Parts: sequence; C-alpha cells; structure tokens
Amino acid sequence: MMRSILLALPGNDDMATKLAALLDIDVGVVDCHVFPDGEILPRFETDLAGRHVILVCTLARPNDKILPLLFAAATARELGATQVGLVAPYLSYMRQDRRFHAGEAVTSRHFATLLSRAFDWLVTIDPHLHRYKSLSEIYSVPAVAEHAEPLLGDWIARNVKDPFLIGPDEESRQWVELVARTCGADYAVMTKQRLGDRDVRIVPEQLDRLAGKTPVLLDDIISSGKTMLETLRLLKQQGAKAAVAVAVHGVFADDADELIRACGATLVTSNTVPHPTNAIDVSPLLSRAITALELKTGL
Ligand code: R5P
Repeated sequence: MMRSILLALPGNDDMATKLAALLDIDVGVVDCHVFPDGEILPRFETDLAGRHVILVCTLARPNDKILPLLFAAATARELGATQVGLVAPYLSYMRQDRRFHAGEAVTSRHFATLLSRAFDWLVTIDPHLHRYKSLSEIYSVPAVAEHAEPLLGDWIARNVKDPFLIGPDEESRQWVELVARTCGADYAVMTKQRLGDRDVRIVPEQLDRLAGKTPVLLDDIISSGKTMLETLRLLKQQGAKAAVAVAVHGVFADDADELIRACGATLVTSNTVPHPTNAIDVSPLLSRAITALELKTGL
C-alpha cells in the first residue's frame, strides 16, 4: 500500500493515526477553513498526485460533515489522486430505508448515491441494516461492513461478572445473539414500540433468567437514548443489579449519555464516534477491511 495515504477530516485524527500505524502508510493533512459566514474551504497540505487517497470521516451528525467530505473527495481527484476511498466508522442515514409515510424521502438511498458518486469504495462498522440485507442494495461502489460484536463480546467477558445480555428490540437480536456466543452469556430480547423520535415503550421478555446476574444492555446505536433509558427503567422496576449499557455507536443526542449514567449504568461504546465512553477500539477491523479491499481492487 505504498501509494496509499490517509487523511483525517476534522475530529478524526485519532482514528486516522491508529489506522496509519496498523496499515503502515503515510498520514497527510487536509485543513478545513471555516469562513465567518459558515462556508468552508478544504485544503490539502500534502501532495496527492498518483496516490491512493483514504479519507477518514465518521458520519455522526452528518449534515455538517458531508459537504466538507464531498469537497475533499472531489479536490483529491483534481489534485491527481488515482483512487479515493472513504473510511466512515459510523455510517449515517441508514434508518430511513423505505418511504414510511406518503411524500417522505428515502434518505438512505440519496445519501448512498452521493457517497457512491464521490468515492471508489467505502468501509464502515455495523451500519444499521434492517430492511436492507447489505450495503450493496444502495451503494454502487464496493462497500464493506465490518462487525464489532466479537470485540463487544470480548470486552464484556473481560469486564463484567455473570453478564446477562439484554437486547431492547427485535432488531438487536442479530447483535445480541452474536455477542452472547462470544462471551458465553445467556440473553433475552425485549419488544419495543416506537411511538415517536423520543418516545419508546419496552415490553419485558424472559427476564426471570436475569436473577443474580449483571444486566448488559446491548444496542447498535444510542441516539436519543430513549431505548436504553426505558430499558433501564424496566430493569429498575424488576429490582435488577446496576446495569452496563454497551453500544457500537454512541451518537448521543443532547445529554443522552449523562441521563444514562444518571440511572447508575456503566456506559461503554466503541470508538466509531469519538466520546469519553469509548472503550472498544475498532481500528483493527477497519484496517483489516481496507487490506482486504486492497487485495480485491489493487489499492
Ligand atoms: C433502532 O432500532 C436501533 O437499533 C436503536 O435501538 C435506536 O437507534 C436507538 O435510538 P434511541 O437512542 O433514539 O432510542
């Protein structure tokens, strides 16, 4: 990968440094100037001619990030990059995977179209695949999704005594079953009703087996935090021990992280979105995916 170079969009330096070390490639600099009126001006401070450019940009709170990213990708090509790839540890705009109400945009498709036009490939971690079975249904470039569940399982096995895994909804079953296998724990999956963006009801299922164990709530994303908070409330009602809340992507709208911790829960996330609760490093997964792409596409 001698011709590859990694560049971090603002806020992604830690991940870029880790990946560059694992892949043994150079790190370049892209500055992103913000004018007083909010317009932005990306500028590469590294020669990109003939290089395979890898931009690192996690996409939590994506609206402010997508324009600098698209400008940077287009500029990299103008400056002679032979390929432009994207490492987006968290890939946003996956929830709207169909038109739920008349007139709504199917934003997952539009977002995928934008990124597929700008990049030659994409690598991410646990995108929220629900009605889509794989990213290739909406991304027209090679799009590799790595899975953090084994790392979550390892963390739980090393840090939690007698864990009992709890998935808050049917969608989480896929992750909970995998993690349960890795750490050899029992688990139960609740039923969730979403009544609004910040309004969910969790119906308990099979919690009788929880007695004496440490509840470990597991989800792919914490956004408003309501899913975790409602599940924690339920556990409190059941007289459960203090819980551990584990998520791959801690997006945390408003003070969601504080509210979860205020319930007495230990909060743990992976570093797909930089946050003080990051305890699980996914850079080896991303580096493995980039290397696999290199073998397939001759990066
Ligand atoms: C949705 O089904 C996901 O798996 C998560 O449960 C959801 O994104 C969490 O959202 P919130 O934190 O807003 O309840």
